[in-house]
Amino acid sequence: MEEKLKEIVERTFCKLESVIDNKELAALKVEILGKNGELTGILRNLKDLPADKRPMAGKLVNDARTRLEEAFDKKFKKLYEEELSKKLDEEKIDITIEGKDRKKGGLHPLTIVKNSVIDFFSSLGFMVVDSPEIETDYYNFKALNTPDNHPARDMQDTFYITSNILLRTQTSAGQIRTMEKIKPPIKMINIGRVFRADDVDATHSPVFHQIEGLVVDNHITMCDLKGILDRFARFFFGENTKTRFRPSYFPFTEPSVEVDASCPYCGGKGCRVCKGTGWIEILGAGMVNRNVLKNCDINPDEYTGFAFGIGLDRITVIRYGINDMRLEFENDLRFLKQFN
Ligand code: PHE
Repeated sequence: MEEKLKEIVERTFCKLESVIDNKELAALKVEILGKNGELTGILRNLKDLPADKRPMAGKLVNDARTRLEEAFDKKFKKLYEEELSKKLDEEKIDITIEGKDRKKGGLHPLTIVKNSVIDFFSSLGFMVVDSPEIETDYYNFKALNTPDNHPARDMQDTFYITSNILLRTQTSAGQIRTMEKIKPPIKMINIGRVFRADDVDATHSPVFHQIEGLVVDNHITMCDLKGILDRFARFFFGENTKTRFRPSYFPFTEPSVEVDASCPYCGGKGCRVCKGTGWIEILGAGMVNRNVLKNCDINPDEYTGFAFGIGLDRITVIRYGINDMRLEFENDLRFLKQFN
């Protein structure tokens, strides 16, 4: 029996060497140590031995069993570790590989400027309102003190949809809509697209943008208009900017002015940007005409106000030194990327 045990142990050790996976290992275990396994068979036969030989034989079988079980456990662990390291090798993540470049969007220069203008005026307590791009003749002209056949209509080439409906030529239409809804004190800005039948070139576009402003309250004077617009010019073009107010004409303001800022490129000495004048026109403004207040049921003897219209495209091209306004509308990424 001793011989037989030795043979089983050695044979099993030998076989274990060549086992390559868990399935094979389990089969071998059943074959030797299972209920009907070889070693179990020997154990069962012990009862046939004479009583004095049984303890010694039992010990031999149990020793063999322990050695075999240890060997199976060891092999099991080895297989497990081999498999694990194989998996880890295969699934290795190379953290040095360069990541995918995610493109980030950015704001259009007009939006950047619009946002900074909103920041400025809202910090002074102006509310931001919206008004329609498709307007009636009443809001775009008539209520703004520009009746039919008024010569001032020729100042703006209008896209008419019907004889009464048009694409707004100026955000001033929003003044009327605001004063119809809100009574003084009023402090609002209204930024948006306006349309005029102009040919496209480096400084003209049939679509452009205006920033309308309106203040109506008791005792509003030309000083308020000058103060706020001068501060705006310094905020936008730099603290050293000077402003110049020239007399002008708009039907809905009286008196009317056009405002120039000293050229931010040459500081007023004269250069190519300001065409040698030292000044750049940035907006039109004036004290709200009494007739306009009356059209909105606001008593002009009680209230006064001022209004202004800033060319958003104009101040944007000046700020960034853009030499062709068409770039603002073409959405060429090579151009847009420079602003972010
Ligand atoms: N709406 C005028 C324009 O388009 C600008 C303006 C606005 C002038 C408000 C005075 C007051 O030319």
